[in-house]
Amino acid sequence: MRGVRLIGSGSSVPDKVMTNDDLAELVDTSDEWITTRTGIKQRRIVDAPDVGVATLAADAGRKAIAAAGITAQDLDLIVLATSTPDDLFGTAAKVQELLGAERAVAFDISAACSGFVFGLVTAAQFLRAGTYQNILLIGADVLSRWVNWSDRGTCILFGDGAGAVVMQDSEQDRLLGFELRSDGRGNGLLNLSYDRDLQTYAPITMNGKEVYKFAVTAVPEVLEKALHRANLQVAEIDWLILHQANQRILDAVQARMGIEPTKVVSNLANYGNTSAASIPLALDEWVRAGKIKPGDAIATSGFGAGLSWGAAIFRWH
Ligand code: COA
Repeated sequence: MRGVRLIGSGSSVPDKVMTNDDLAELVDTSDEWITTRTGIKQRRIVDAPDVGVATLAADAGRKAIAAAGITAQDLDLIVLATSTPDDLFGTAAKVQELLGAERAVAFDISAACSGFVFGLVTAAQFLRAGTYQNILLIGADVLSRWVNWSDRGTCILFGDGAGAVVMQDSEQDRLLGFELRSDGRGNGLLNLSYDRDLQTYAPITMNGKEVYKFAVTAVPEVLEKALHRANLQVAEIDWLILHQANQRILDAVQARMGIEPTKVVSNLANYGNTSAASIPLALDEWVRAGKIKPGDAIATSGFGAGLSWGAAIFRWH
């Protein structure tokens, strides 16, 4: 069996910044409330007509390809994790066109905020099987299109963005362990559902308290399972990159796992919850800042609507 390496990252966010104070002009909230409950200070929002999931994803993808030292022509597969595609029929092929990745087949996968981790494991199977050599995995979401901007319980949380990694086949397998889970019994906790009366998709609804409880119990469980499969102790992890939903969730998982706070990657203050984009967006920031180094052991976990959640342990490069 062949192995998997992650050899380059990239990210992209829209230019427009929306601060907590900007939000306080739309709904009855405050910077103080949002900061203490979530850790979020600002988010990026798509507001130009020519910017969307495809353009953000392609921009992040282009940077990841350059960082990996390959070209778009080298790509065999593009996996786009998104639950807010520009087109419900799929947006990955548009990304393929924008990148000029003529040889690559491209498809979307939808697993909400778990999309990047589900995509990572999906892509890894093609590499391990020897089917493909170079895969671009992108997480991209534009949740601002689907937020109810008069619901202060949800609109404060989300932002737009994209992050990408290039995965390559290798003799050595750097994907050390993973665990993926779903539980449809919690499907009603977080939705962006088709509404028969509206004849379109209704804005996001969420039971925040229940989602919070789910995250702080389910995430440590899958992380521990994935660490066990990776044959690694918690202390051997260099970085914990959780889906950037809420600083309180990050802190609770860090405390439960007994991971040193300095190992927890967090950039949600600047971007909010960018769904499938959040993990590669944070990874890319830490890689470009020189904090994450080749060989570092990274534990990552995505969690969210479905319910869906998962963890993966990998070494960078
Ligand atoms: N500004 C000011 N007050 C707000 C508010 C806001 N943006 N949103 C809610 N409130 C109010 C509520 O109306 C409620 O008031 P009441 O007591 O008068 O009814 C009070 O604050 C408490 O609301 P509650 O929903 O119980 O707050 P909470 O402590 O659970 O925090 C979340 C809300 C959304 C921050 C929190 O539940 C959370 O982070 N959940 C996880 C969400 C998540 O990460 N989802 C994505 C997963 S992928």
